[in-house]
Amino acid sequence: MEKNIGDVASTSFVTLYCHAIETQSEHPVLKDPKSVEITTELNKTLAQSDDPLDRMLVSGTIDRNLVVHIALRAKRYDEYARDFMNRNPRGVIVNIGCGLDSRFLRIDDGTMIFYDLDLPEVIEVRKRFFEETDRYHLIASSVLEFDWMDTISPQRGPFLFMAEGVFMYLKEGEVKSLVLNLREKFPGSELVCEEVNSFWLRKPVKALLNHKIRSRVHLGKDAVFQSGIRDEREMEHWHPGIRFLDEWSYFDTGEEKLGWLRMLGHIGWIRKTQWTVHYLLS
Ligand SMILES: C[S@@+](CC[C@H](N)C(=O)[O-])C[C@H]1O[C@@H](n2cnc3c(N)ncnc32)[C@H](O)[C@@H]1O
Repeated sequence: MEKNIGDVASTSFVTLYCHAIETQSEHPVLKDPKSVEITTELNKTLAQSDDPLDRMLVSGTIDRNLVVHIALRAKRYDEYARDFMNRNPRGVIVNIGCGLDSRFLRIDDGTMIFYDLDLPEVIEVRKRFFEETDRYHLIASSVLEFDWMDTISPQRGPFLFMAEGVFMYLKEGEVKSLVLNLREKFPGSELVCEEVNSFWLRKPVKALLNHKIRSRVHLGKDAVFQSGIRDEREMEHWHPGIRFLDEWSYFDTGEEKLGWLRMLGHIGWIRKTQWTVHYLLS
């Protein structure tokens, strides 16, 4: 199988391999056996490739801090999902920009309805490893082509929309339009999304940041952070029905595997360089 996908879609391979590496490490932060199964299979093809990203993935040489960050994030999003289902036993979860993540397998309680949405090229890969059922569904669409919302609207909800490592790849106007549409079509829903602080996305810092991120994991030129928010309250100004609930940063975990980075979490602007925000859309 060829990994013939765009630069932004390729980021899903990086997070998948982070899950697999962490799962196989000592005292794993995240237990994701499906990621090990998928990467073992993908390695058979990627091992033939000369692409620097593929070589990094197959050799398992992803930056250790990145691996821990991504694993902590997935674990926290699993908790957000479980908490939502505990509060809303008939709830529906939509994982926007799911990549090759296996959240449904990690958290399935035997009754939940779960949708994984990503670009068609990613869903094509996903279909090799995940089968749809009456409770687990795949949506092959850009999140910005809002027709996908009609697919899920027959469900009663309430809905939890999760966007883990996705919004930063969209333009500011696109994120705003998406969130406003979600609020309008699914009133009472919740949104958990990761954000980059827009402070870091001003020229010329933006170009430096993007260069650093891309070269760290050998991503192509189109895998760039496009937008962010100044602070967690910014989205509330988009519509009076958008209400900030809580936020989370990797640093809050105090996870030992973060090493000396743990100390930086006390510095507010570092804690919120890239962090997660939880909203009610009513
Ligand atoms: C960094 S990966 C994160 C994947 C997954 N959420 C995880 O944490 O493992 C970003 C994902 O967002 C997806 N994505 C980016 N733009 C998108 C769009 N317009 N519509 C749907 N998915 C998109 C990419 O294809 C990719 O799978």
